[in-house]
Amino acid sequence: MQDNTTLTLGRPDDFHLHLRDGAALSAVVAFTARQFGRALVMPNLKPPVTTVAIAAGYRERILRAVGENASFDPLMTLYLTDNTATDEVARVADSDFVHAFKYYPAGATTNSDSGVSALKNVYPVLDAMQRHGVILCVHGEVTDPTTDVFDREAIFVEGALQQIVRDFPALKIVVEHITTREAAEFVAAMSPNIAATITPQHLLYNRTSIFTGGIRPHLYCLPILKRETHRLALIDAATSGSPKFFLGTDSAPHAKNAKEACCGAAGCFTSHAALELYAEAFNADDSLDKLDDFASRFGAAFYGLPRNVGTVTLRRESWTPPDDFAFGNETIVPLTVGRTLPWKLL
Ligand code: NCD
Ligand code: ZN
Repeated sequence: MQDNTTLTLGRPDDFHLHLRDGAALSAVVAFTARQFGRALVMPNLKPPVTTVAIAAGYRERILRAVGENASFDPLMTLYLTDNTATDEVARVADSDFVHAFKYYPAGATTNSDSGVSALKNVYPVLDAMQRHGVILCVHGEVTDPTTDVFDREAIFVEGALQQIVRDFPALKIVVEHITTREAAEFVAAMSPNIAATITPQHLLYNRTSIFTGGIRPHLYCLPILKRETHRLALIDAATSGSPKFFLGTDSAPHAKNAKEACCGAAGCFTSHAALELYAEAFNADDSLDKLDDFASRFGAAFYGLPRNVGTVTLRRESWTPPDDFAFGNETIVPLTVGRTLPWKLL
């Protein structure tokens, strides 16, 4: 439902979220539970979440941190490594709370040291996933340090991703946090097995934003923001009405000290205003009528889940989120630092 000043959506899902653990988890999870019915929780803890048994313990800690009153369902993922056993795939298929494996090329991003060092190492596991109908979520960047950081996704798409799709045509794949025209076009052209998530920062900002008036570390994430032409391609994909493109924030909390450092950490924190940021991006394209499907329907359909019960309502109202939030003994600075937002969740 939409009038000039309010927008009501089905209770949405966040299909790509970093919650961390311990005090950090307790500091951030309420922001997501307030907006979303479910979130696909990334497994890049230290050490990573590699088995259904470890995921069960992590899920319990998340639910405890959420508290009893909130109705929030954490959808768990396992971290794919060179050593993942094919038996683990069967356990995932049998589990009702683990929904995917996450493929990180080793060294591609934050806490990806245990990732896959060569695609062929996981072929038996990918084959098992294809047979069991288990979804593969992919961080789509090559890791060769000589490859320009702005080209890493496009090169991954035409290389490793093409190869996976060719060799496992029935495997369901989500290309996570796409950032380029190449990735958007590839996903659109493939079978319905291939989908993608899109973050708010990649819909709202381009690579020039990182350097506007100085270096802005809170806009730094991986894959890094790209040229404006790519941002426009992502807007087109997100607002196209194609069920292949759906919401995944990639909200990735790091302490202020870790971001504002001589070697700053990658990851943008957006959970405090995720829907508001998507509403801003869709509204700027005059496509607010497309947000409900993108945020509340397409992801659930791809993962074979029912729609959430209930709704959320946003109002057109200018507000300024806090410049920082408590984060254990430290603070966290959100993506939105220093600016007003045009939509507010009621
Ligand atoms: C994520 C993190 O901090 O865990 N960082 C990021 O820049 N997106 C990892 C990831 O999803 O790549
Ligand atoms: Zn992520």
